[in-house]
Amino acid sequence: MESFLKTGKLGSDASSSSSSASASASAPKKSASWSGKPSRKPTPWVEKYRPKTVDDVAYQDEVVAVLKKSLAGTDLPNLLFYGPPGTGKTSTILAAARDLFGSEMYRDRVLELNASDERGINVVRQKVKNFAQRTATATRRPDGQPCPPFKIIVLDEADSMTRDAQSALRRTMEKEGRSTRFCLICNYVSRIIEPLTSRCAKFRFKPLAKDVLIGRLEMIAAGEKVSVTQDAMEALLETSEGDLRKAITTLQSCARLKEADGEAEEEAGGPVGTAVTGDDVREMSGVVPGHWLDRLFDVCKKNSYEKLQAFVDDLMAEGYSVVQMIDQMHTRIVEENSGGLSDRQKSVVCEALAINEFRLLDGASEYLQLMDICALLMKTMADGA
Ligand SMILES: Nc1ncnc2c1ncn2[C@@H]1O[C@H](COP(=O)(O)OP(=O)(O)OP(=O)(O)O)[C@@H](O)[C@H]1O
Ligand SMILES: [Mg+2]
Repeated sequence: MESFLKTGKLGSDASSSSSSASASASAPKKSASWSGKPSRKPTPWVEKYRPKTVDDVAYQDEVVAVLKKSLAGTDLPNLLFYGPPGTGKTSTILAAARDLFGSEMYRDRVLELNASDERGINVVRQKVKNFAQRTATATRRPDGQPCPPFKIIVLDEADSMTRDAQSALRRTMEKEGRSTRFCLICNYVSRIIEPLTSRCAKFRFKPLAKDVLIGRLEMIAAGEKVSVTQDAMEALLETSEGDLRKAITTLQSCARLKEADGEAEEEAGGPVGTAVTGDDVREMSGVVPGHWLDRLFDVCKKNSYEKLQAFVDDLMAEGYSVVQMIDQMHTRIVEENSGGLSDRQKSVVCEALAINEFRLLDGASEYLQLMDICALLMKTMADGA
């Protein structure tokens, strides 16, 4: 699912999805379900509201300005987009390619490979090289616009390419430079080898600012006729940390939840169309409710191992993610100074939080790591400043 949301593959998939989208736009919206109720089309909103042109891309002004200049002159350097997830990297190059080639020529001129495709050294040697060697002439598109004399190869999630594959790309990039432009996209630029980064114009995609996130979410909520409370909007901003994809996905899940609740309430004669609330958003994104953290600090003050173990057992039974708990403990300790720790104590606990998170990501037991970090917090508090 994640990779489906991320890829937004064009080619045949996209043409069928866009044609179905336009078909649904012209068709009457109410496709009645068996119960006779209007059912919403199950399109992920991240795809439905993916920017269609470069102008639709919000907040990434530098890259949009450079791309627009390139589009006007119909020339493009090799590109490297990097930055955190859900900030518009994939959408931007797909929109730019569509602006350049139009939907008819898109398939001939753009090769998109992402992490779901095999991209070892053989693929670079064969598939990428073959596509790069195909000639592309300056012609006119069916709609009369000029079509530039090059092709684009998009290597999405390039940080997951092996070093050998990246090295093999160097030569291809240089040799086929006249007829092919490359666009590498990644989250971690340090995983791309230097000889490749130096061949590209680099653009950093920033986490989206709050007002931009609010603007996009409000636009989507209005388009989908979902009401969102102020608190829910704040919770969306808080949990998404500048990742618009995450915010949109959470909003859609909450809207679905409300829709299901609304139908049940409607059948029971209750109110219809309730708004998405902050609690819905927190619940949906797996945030540990604040009272659990309050309890943790209370238990630690008591300095009793039995009580601590009982607390950890209770928390584990709720099924919250321990990585999420660690994240929230960090916020509480650093930003809100819960537990009244001194700076030295904070540094001890924060270091342990980092180590525990690392171990968890490496596959350690959630229970043992939570027990470990809680016991350390209790001991640090008992030892005093
Ligand atoms: N700058 C933006 N302007 C408008 N919409 C955006 C922007 N950034 C993200 N989005 C929305 O979020 C969705 C995901 O964006 P996109 O796939 O481009 O992210 P990405 O930067 O490629 O993320 P990842 O690094 O995880 O691949 C898009 O479908 C779009 O709805
Ligand atoms: Mg992407």
